Amino acid sequence: MTSKNNQLTSKQAWKALAANQKNGIPHLRDLFTKDPKRGEKMTLEAAGLFLDYSKNRITDETFRLLLNLATESGLKDHIDAMFNGEKINITENRSVLHVALRAPKNASIIVDGVNVVPQVHEVLEKMTDFADRLRSGSWKGYSGKRIRNIINIGIGGSDLGPVMAYEALKYYCDRSLTFRFVSNIDGTDFAEAVIDLNSEETLFIVSSKTFTTIETMTNALTARDWLLKAFKGDDKAIAKHFVAVSTNAALVEKFGIDTANMFGFWDWVGGRYSMDSAIGLATMLAIGPRNFRAMLDGFHQMDEHFRTAPFESNLPVIMGLLGIWNTNFYGAETVAVLPYEQYLKRFPAYLQQLTMESNGKHVTLDGVEVDYQTSPIYWGEPGTNGQHSFYQLIHQGTRLIPCDFIAFAEPLNNIGRHHDILMANVFAQAEALAFGKTPEQVRSEGVPEWLAPHKVFEGNRPSNTIMAQKLTPEVLGKLVALYEHIVFTQGAIWNIGSFDQWGVELGKVLAQRIIPELESKTEPEPRHDTSTNNLIRRYRKQRRSE
Ligand code: F6P
Repeated sequence: MTSKNNQLTSKQAWKALAANQKNGIPHLRDLFTKDPKRGEKMTLEAAGLFLDYSKNRITDETFRLLLNLATESGLKDHIDAMFNGEKINITENRSVLHVALRAPKNASIIVDGVNVVPQVHEVLEKMTDFADRLRSGSWKGYSGKRIRNIINIGIGGSDLGPVMAYEALKYYCDRSLTFRFVSNIDGTDFAEAVIDLNSEETLFIVSSKTFTTIETMTNALTARDWLLKAFKGDDKAIAKHFVAVSTNAALVEKFGIDTANMFGFWDWVGGRYSMDSAIGLATMLAIGPRNFRAMLDGFHQMDEHFRTAPFESNLPVIMGLLGIWNTNFYGAETVAVLPYEQYLKRFPAYLQQLTMESNGKHVTLDGVEVDYQTSPIYWGEPGTNGQHSFYQLIHQGTRLIPCDFIAFAEPLNNIGRHHDILMANVFAQAEALAFGKTPEQVRSEGVPEWLAPHKVFEGNRPSNTIMAQKLTPEVLGKLVALYEHIVFTQGAIWNIGSFDQWGVELGKVLAQRIIPELESKTEPEPRHDTSTNNLIRRYRKQRRSE
């Protein structure tokens, strides 16, 4: 590896930001006192989402310098390169065109001389036709029974998007259908998913971009065995109970799935950017084609906003820059994503792959080691549950944890006082984090001196609040696209390859070496380090003596 990269840190805007931070940004309490309009000024409404970013440790000058950083990093050219289908995934020589998945029919996006938009719509039509047949009951299982259970088998991007979207949009789902998602190689995942299901009424969607992923292929084979047991080994049943979503027609066919029942996508769709491709088939079956199209429309609205809005009023650009400010200038290690919407319970898990598999990189696009931090760790839980578990650390711990609060004006389940109380909590948390409680305030409440330090909240803890009217398929599309483009903005500025994932390979290769050592009937001679050798021997012994 060549020496450290200093291209980013020697940029004028970067140096100016470092100086701005070093000179001292006043406490949020003072920033709000000095500028009575701050809470209204540092907000933005675009594509139906509202962002309040006033509770970040920034001045007007910081904001201006952050925008300069985006400009000096050539962000506009990067955005155009992606939308124009240039091969910006350089280590895999691929275009990065998840934006084409939600482009309207009349759009044109050229890859290798071919407009890919008609192909996208052709697959959408095929998915729609299948979804209509399945939802209406005209697609039947091999014994003539209606399909009532759908199991998506996939992992990573072929699982997290479908699960998250299913949970997020459950309100809109056909409740006469049961959906399950099997991802883990741990047999428990499959066993529990089918435990109460009738195989004659069950359809498997095998979702895998490559159709080689060991977890998915092993689960798919187990599913085939489970199904065929009910049909006494008659493999003609497979055509009625298995469909595939993949870019690899040859391997789909080899597995025994009729390619007529295969829904394709393309190598220019990254796994973690694929929930709106055919990988979203389970989502479409659950919410119906019309709602799925509304979700795509939401994605597209955010794409257009990102592509065309000036940086100072561009939601993903602003949130991306604020993330860089917190990560690189304040040393924040993580970002907490805190949806105040129970249906978004899997949203933080979904974002973990999107953000960390994309920007968890240690070299620049030129292969030079970075001398700055890249992706922070994303995590989170829905509010208000998190308040009664880890918020203590966010409020009074020693670490700086920037938070993204996500909230909706209208509840989907409008029951009594619940929603007002929920919303009061999200607003209160952001307020408490920013303004805290001073020692003087604590003492003025008559708290004894020895107890006062424990009750002080230093405040000055940054957060964004994102609000939308209510959680709909369209809004979910906007939210996901917002984070996709935040990741893009940060990756472009950090000058890293956001669209490959070489970091997952080594473990996969080593596991392939170890599998035969665990399965071997005769005692193997493992040739790893002494720790791994010892663990392998111990496992073999314990497994045998079960
Ligand atoms: O192991 C990481 C990964 O390659 C992800 O990027 C991808 O989403 C996941 O595995 C699943 O891959 P596939 O869809 O090819 O089975």
